[in-house]
Amino acid sequence: MTSVLVYGAYGHTGRFVVAELRRRGFDPVLSGRDAAKLPGGRPASVGDPASLDRALEGVAAVINCAGPFAGTARPVAEAAIRAGVPYVDVAAEIEANLDTLELSADTAVVPAMAFFGGLADLLATAAMDDWTAADEVHVAYGLSGWRPTAGTLAAGRVSRERREGKRIRYAGGRLEYRDDALPKREWAFPEPLGPRPVFGEFSMADIVTIPRHLKVRDVVSYMTVDAAQDLAVAGERDAAETFVVDVVVRAGDDERRIVARGEDIYAVSAPLAVEAVDRILTGRTKAKGVATAGEMFDAAGFLRALAPHITVEQR
Ligand SMILES: NC(=O)c1ccc[n+]([C@@H]2O[C@H](COP(=O)([O-])OP(=O)(O)OC[C@H]3O[C@@H](n4cnc5c(N)ncnc54)[C@H](OP(=O)(O)O)[C@@H]3O)[C@@H](O)[C@H]2O)c1
Repeated sequence: MTSVLVYGAYGHTGRFVVAELRRRGFDPVLSGRDAAKLPGGRPASVGDPASLDRALEGVAAVINCAGPFAGTARPVAEAAIRAGVPYVDVAAEIEANLDTLELSADTAVVPAMAFFGGLADLLATAAMDDWTAADEVHVAYGLSGWRPTAGTLAAGRVSRERREGKRIRYAGGRLEYRDDALPKREWAFPEPLGPRPVFGEFSMADIVTIPRHLKVRDVVSYMTVDAAQDLAVAGERDAAETFVVDVVVRAGDDERRIVARGEDIYAVSAPLAVEAVDRILTGRTKAKGVATAGEMFDAAGFLRALAPHITVEQR
């Protein structure tokens, strides 16, 4: 059996990843910083590179689910690079993803291989298909709600600190920091959701993953206002959301649209990350070294492989 190290294995998302690896016939090797939560696993600390090297011994790949990633992405990715094995993470933090994309590696390194970051990158890449450039990519998240985990809330705090409380957007071909309020508008989601109020420029990791390899002027994410407001309410994650991710790419007067649907943004991150590892380990990649999902994989084929967890419709 192929062993895959899961760092942050006992977190909410890590547990989904471990279960998905088992379901697909991999041998998950559980790791993280707290030995007490890892009976039979391989405890390792990001402050102790030798412990990470020991944890990685004999494994074929690593999936990092330990966030905030500001502190974990680089040390775990660098350990994977030292061991010569592929690295995949589920980081949604824009700054941490930028850090990872600066690494150089001979082995595959894929950050943001999850619901935020990876999925919209695959959708935009599939929608653009034979286009070589687009003016705009719009990624609208229609979430029925959002009960965040402690890890998500902590990651949001760290990201905000790293950008000194400013917000960020991708416009005119570059990342831009801003102090003004998010624009509010309505987005016409496909039925049954229909038109919903959304925050515009609600920037997710997509503003890093998509322009990394697609020639686009603007990448704009939108989030249903209800879900964005849920984020501000601390509490347990006691319910899973349903989601519609509506991606529109525009070049001049031409427009293409692709829609993904499913439920539980944390649970579906597991099939995304594990499918990535499977494709890397079986040579089904189109890039080498450090790359985002759409850059690394055949986007349309990858999206088809996500059914029934995520269903995709080109419109
Ligand atoms: N891109 C996406 O769509 C997506 C999807 C799912 C999750 N995520 C991200 O993944 C991260 C984890 O989310 P979650 O839902 O699994 O949260 P969680 O249940 O709170 O788990 C967080 C995990 O990270 C570990 N961790 C945190 N800081 C660490 C450090 N410095 N060293 C080692 N381990 C550390 C925690 O270990 P301890 O218990 O020992 O602190 C725990 O295992 C978050 O940043 C979240 O935003 C992103």
